[in-house]
Parts: sequence; C-alpha cells; structure tokens
Amino acid sequence: MATVCEVAPHHQEANFSQLKIASVKALAESSILTSIPSHYAFTTSTSGDHVVHPVHDDSIPVIDFSLLSSGNPDQRAKVVSDLAKACQDWGFFMVINHGVPESQMKAMFDMLTRFFDLTEEEKREFEGKHVLDPIRCGTSFNASVDKVFFWRDYLKVRVHPKFYCPTKPEGFSEVLAEYSGAVQKFVRGLRKGISESLGLEPGYIDEAMNMDSSLQILTANLYPPCPQPELAMGMPPHSDHGLLTILTQNGIGGLQVHHGGKWVKIDPIPNAFLVNTGDHLEILSNGIYKSVLHRAVVNNKATRISIVLSNGPSPDTVVMPAEQLVHGENNRAMYIGMKYKDYLELQQSSVLDGKSGLDRVKI
Ligand code: OGA
Ligand code: NI
Repeated sequence: MATVCEVAPHHQEANFSQLKIASVKALAESSILTSIPSHYAFTTSTSGDHVVHPVHDDSIPVIDFSLLSSGNPDQRAKVVSDLAKACQDWGFFMVINHGVPESQMKAMFDMLTRFFDLTEEEKREFEGKHVLDPIRCGTSFNASVDKVFFWRDYLKVRVHPKFYCPTKPEGFSEVLAEYSGAVQKFVRGLRKGISESLGLEPGYIDEAMNMDSSLQILTANLYPPCPQPELAMGMPPHSDHGLLTILTQNGIGGLQVHHGGKWVKIDPIPNAFLVNTGDHLEILSNGIYKSVLHRAVVNNKATRISIVLSNGPSPDTVVMPAEQLVHGENNRAMYIGMKYKDYLELQQSSVLDGKSGLDRVKI
C-alpha cells in the first residue's frame, strides 16, 4: 500500500512506540473533539477510496445452518453447494440459525462494553508484550509499527486450545467460555460442510489441520464515534489469517467487503453471523476459495463493537494445499507450506497491508 500522511510536527515528540498511548476511546471522550489528530488521518491512497457501493440486502449469500445439520441428504447437498458458491463468488456469507443463543451474544456485547469501560490503567494490565501473547489489548493494529493509527481499540484473547480470559470485569470468563464454546460447535459443523464443498471428506479439514489443538483467537474491536470519519480508518483493507472468521456486530454498520472490484457495505443482520474465508483456507484449497479484502470504516454517531472469532489450524501445523486438489499440470500447488504460527507471527508483527501475508507463501 502507498504512502501515509505526514505527521504534523507537534505530534512528533510523542514516541508512540514507547506504548504510552491512550486508547481511541479515551481520546474520543477526552474533550469535545472537533477534528482528529493528524496521526489518525489517512490519505485515500492508503485506505482505498471511500466511495462505497451499497449492496442490496439480499445479494450477500445467506446460509441456513440448521439445514446443514438437519440429516436430510437433499437439503444438506443443497447447502453444501450453496457454501461452495458463496466461498467462490464472495468469500463472505451470512449464517442464520447457527445455534448460538441470542442471550449469549448479548451477554458478550455487555461484557465487552464493560471491559472497554475499565480505566486505562486497569486495561494496561492486559496489554501483553509479544504479538503471540494469549491476552493482548491495545489500540490501532500494531502501535509500535503503524505510521498512521487506526480509530480502533481491541482486545485479543486466545480461547483454544487453552482457554484464557482477562480477570476483569468479574464474570467475563464464564460469558466468554459459553460464547466461544457455542461458536466453536457451530464452526465445527461449518468446516465439515466446507470440506465437502471442496470435494473432500467431511472430516478432512479437521484432520489435516489438527483442529483438536486449533488456535482460536477472539478479537473484540471497539470503534468510538469519530469527528471526521471520512479521514480516519477503523481497520485498513486486509484479509484474515486462519481458515474461517466468524463476526458479529452490535447493530452498527461499518464493515465493507471488496467484491466485484468495488467496496460494498454489509448491513448487519441482527443475531446473524458473518463468516469469511481466511488465508489458510485459500492455501488449503489451493486457491479455489480466495481470502477476501475487507475493511472497517468509522462513523460520527455511535460506538461500534464487533466480535470476531478467528478459527485457525493448530499452531504447529504446516499448512499446504490438500493433495487431492493438486493433480496434473493445470493444478500444480500454488502455495508453499508454512507453519501457521510462523505465518501468524509475521502478519501480526507487520503493518496490516492487504493480502501481503499470502504473498510470502505464493509460488
Ligand atoms: C477483523 C476485522 C472488521 C470489523 O477483526 O479482522 O476485519 O468490522 N474486523 O470490525
Ligand atoms: Ni478482518
């Protein structure tokens, strides 16, 4: 991605890599802010143009998950073929009837609001030091290397293979364990359907990726109201590491997906999940299912929270294209194998930049 805005001189004395940085939440609340500090301002060349093409609600694929687990072979075959089409055409789809209770989703939003409401000092306890630490909270993406900051605070917690959770607020661990357990159950079913949609055995992905010890990270993103939303970015265009990402948001839109050469706005459907295919599904499927660029924009009215569960292989698994999908001259392997944890470390310690992570493993 291209250049960033010049940082105005009066901001240069602050050494942001010393990590004495306030959250955007604190910044947004600190005064009656009428303009954003210049180190939050993007040029259009860094963030892609802000021109958005609204998408009709019915054009993003919707998958009814209950039909996948219904036991009716015809219904199942239909959903599997819908999944193939959704993964190929969009790389993003909505899932309804996913089995995660509404009450658990609501409890997570309430708990996360309380987490972000902790004092800066309390949150600093969970800051983490290394990009692979099991609990990390902070601002922007990687504040020690970001040249321009994103209008976003985050909490990242590893929930599998070992479960972690911040010790505050009280009761967080129960709520997180229930929610992440329910989502994991749903994604397990989805992985079976996706394996089949690639012409593989239903259990293929779970076996090949050693999903018993899969790395699953829950990220909560908080985007406070921003006085100049057209200049700031919540999250820049990127694809996700891992196999599948499961996102839900608090009724406030902001996610945009790159589809058909345009940025399209995805309106939230209450209680539905938005699922997208990640870089490691692209590698495993030898490029049949491509990971897709998406970004988060901000608004000047309401705080947006998104909850994102990333579903990755086991950290020590070397991810490479499935053998069954690599045959003959026309289907040579398009990616080299790389351990998931090595990929993750590279991506998380760099500036978040489009699909640059995948370029390192493309043949
Ligand atoms: C992510 C992401 C988008 C959003 O966390 O990877 O793309 O809408 N989030 O918060
Ligand atoms: Ni993402």
